[in-house]
Amino acid sequence: MFLTRLIYVSTATEKFASSSLEDILQVGRLNNTKNGITGMLCFKEKYFIQCLEGSRKAINHTYNKILKDERHTNVVLLEYSQINVREFNDWCMGYIPTSHFTEPLILKYSKSAVFRPYDMSRASAYMLLLEFKKNYTSF
Ligand SMILES: Cc1cc2nc3c(=O)[nH]c(=O)nc-3n(C[C@H](O)[C@H](O)[C@H](O)COP(=O)(O)O)c2cc1C
Repeated sequence: MFLTRLIYVSTATEKFASSSLEDILQVGRLNNTKNGITGMLCFKEKYFIQCLEGSRKAINHTYNKILKDERHTNVVLLEYSQINVREFNDWCMGYIPTSHFTEPLILKYSKSAVFRPYDMSRASAYMLLLEFKKNYTSF
């Protein structure tokens, strides 16, 4: 089964309470480890960006569950592609705290320093996630 990378952006709904993030990370980490999925989740203001890597079957299965989750809405797929190597192989579900979304970093990959992930290209979103990972790992 081909190794696949999926990236989407979405918007938190009112059902996303403050406790939801911990729940999502806990359940996600458990499931992703079981299913051989690696990746990263970011949340800022009300927006999510998530990158998932794994077998096509596991990615499709997980994404279908994520799509039905009422804690977020307006899920827009930015990337679904066949890849040769994982970038987040150490992270079953890395999470980047909001404080790491600095304005200079957002500006580097966006039209402005305001975080508007729906306006980002597939490549910009992916490169931003890679840069988060690089900075976060070296902290
Ligand atoms: C923004 C967001 C990201 C999520 N990411 C994952 C994920 O990476 N893996 C996962 O299994 N569930 C993830 N979930 C949770 C799923 O929507 C769903 O609640 C969960 O997979 C159900 O797990 P279960 O089938 O074990 O009950 C995410 C939910 C949201 C709102």
